[in-house]
Amino acid sequence: MKPFYLTTAIDYANGSPHLGHAYEKILADVIARTQRLLGHEVRFVTGLDEHGQKVQQGAEREGISPQARCDGIAEEFKSLLKSLNVHPDDYIRTTEERHKKVVCHLLTDLYERGEIYQAEYKGFYSTRAEQFLQEKDKVDGKWPEIYGEVTEITEKNYFFKLGKYQDWLIEHIRTNPTFIAPDYRQNQVLEFLKEPLNDLCISRPKERLSWGIPLPFDANFVTYVWFDALVNYVTAAGFGHKSEFERFWPADLHVIGKDILAPPHAVYWPIMLKAANLSLPKQILAHGWWTSSGAKMSKSTGETVNPLELVEQYGSDAFRYFVMREMTVGRDAEFSLERFESRYRTDLGNDLGNLLSRLLHMLERYCGGLVPETPVRGKPEENLSLLWEETKDRVMNDFSGYRFNQALDHLFGFFRSINKYADERSPWKLAKSDKAEDQQYLQTSLATMVEALRLGNVFLAPVMPEVHYAINERLGLPSCLAWKQELDWGDRLVGKKLGQKTILFPRD
Ligand code: MSP
Repeated sequence: MKPFYLTTAIDYANGSPHLGHAYEKILADVIARTQRLLGHEVRFVTGLDEHGQKVQQGAEREGISPQARCDGIAEEFKSLLKSLNVHPDDYIRTTEERHKKVVCHLLTDLYERGEIYQAEYKGFYSTRAEQFLQEKDKVDGKWPEIYGEVTEITEKNYFFKLGKYQDWLIEHIRTNPTFIAPDYRQNQVLEFLKEPLNDLCISRPKERLSWGIPLPFDANFVTYVWFDALVNYVTAAGFGHKSEFERFWPADLHVIGKDILAPPHAVYWPIMLKAANLSLPKQILAHGWWTSSGAKMSKSTGETVNPLELVEQYGSDAFRYFVMREMTVGRDAEFSLERFESRYRTDLGNDLGNLLSRLLHMLERYCGGLVPETPVRGKPEENLSLLWEETKDRVMNDFSGYRFNQALDHLFGFFRSINKYADERSPWKLAKSDKAEDQQYLQTSLATMVEALRLGNVFLAPVMPEVHYAINERLGLPSCLAWKQELDWGDRLVGKKLGQKTILFPRD
């Protein structure tokens, strides 16, 4: 079976990573782990987008070469991935030779087949902002101060024929309703495609921007950064190496933020692939933004959350849990430290952490640390196992539909039900009784809690891999590698010696 090829946006090398970058990589990592647990081979790729004006300007400000600046930023992003326990199979940087070769190959091919042409471009240019402006940039009929002197210039550039593919793209989106997810984003793209598509200017004159991939057919120009960046997805799939590329391409899923859906990923990219006679990715998943005081968290607003600080204080799993629990994929979510701390204390500390520690404590105390059999069964046991059947189906379904927040909501509801079950049976009271029946129920209650916790923990694996491991270790099990056959209620832990009591989520 073809491996599941999954990518994220490649981050701009023009600043330090923040919560938005961290979230996207965690989301993709959770999807990659889920696919593996479902039994699929996965190739998961992320990377860094290193060309363009902002990178060049940043390097000039710091008085270093653009490459040196990118190298530093790449280290920063890669070390963030490590701290987040995100493990891509490849990390692609657009300044790598393997990538430049693919960009040049595609450009040459498109140019030779007449998909790229040269034309004169006339427009208003701001030297201070180093960009072309449009009439709509005027305020009260004048160019705003920030643009400095604006002059009308005519310059030659290269254009990619987007326009001629407009009808084809609309048709593709209409006939493939799962191409863009969540489905409501499709309309946004179709709305964008209602206006006539202009051909895309894919070159920048070298005298204005030197930090880019030179056009293979005209050394006076470099490649427009989006045309360069999008190609990373085929470079990393092994374009140019026939058997490797055929194995991985097309991508099964591109995970990106909503800001770069239309036009780059939902318009430029499919058309670039179509023009190059390559197949289209199966799906693009556009997530929402983390906001801070209602505005998109970004380098330019300055209001960013440094994920590393939270990871250092609370651990990577708590951070991963929070972002996956809090955000509905596709919608925006407001970050607040209070909310983070409240989830840490309540869901993680009370519902899950306490469950494990009270269970291990009671098993040690009443059963010498050995998991007992279930000699009797009553209504509460039946109810809990029925609830598991329901939870299992819902969580599975939610994981496959990228509804991770709902999956976690159901899962933690199940953990709370185990706690409620414990309160109902009250093993600590049963332990004080001499009645044979009570002693049997004592065993049953502890065995039931152990099995329920084992099952719930199976679903923590993609989101909280370390906590999953720690719980399974205490239960005498290795980390779960495949969900199949792990999800049925049974008695496989009977007679096992469990580990020592532990605190999963310490409070300073
Ligand atoms: N370099 C381009 C992507 C090229 S892909 C071929 C880019 N880089 S970025 O660094 O600005 O953003 C990288 C990813 O992070 C994007 O998918 C973007 O949507 C996401 N986020 C950046 N800020 C974000 C939030 N505040 N919240 C959630 N994700 C956002 O775009």
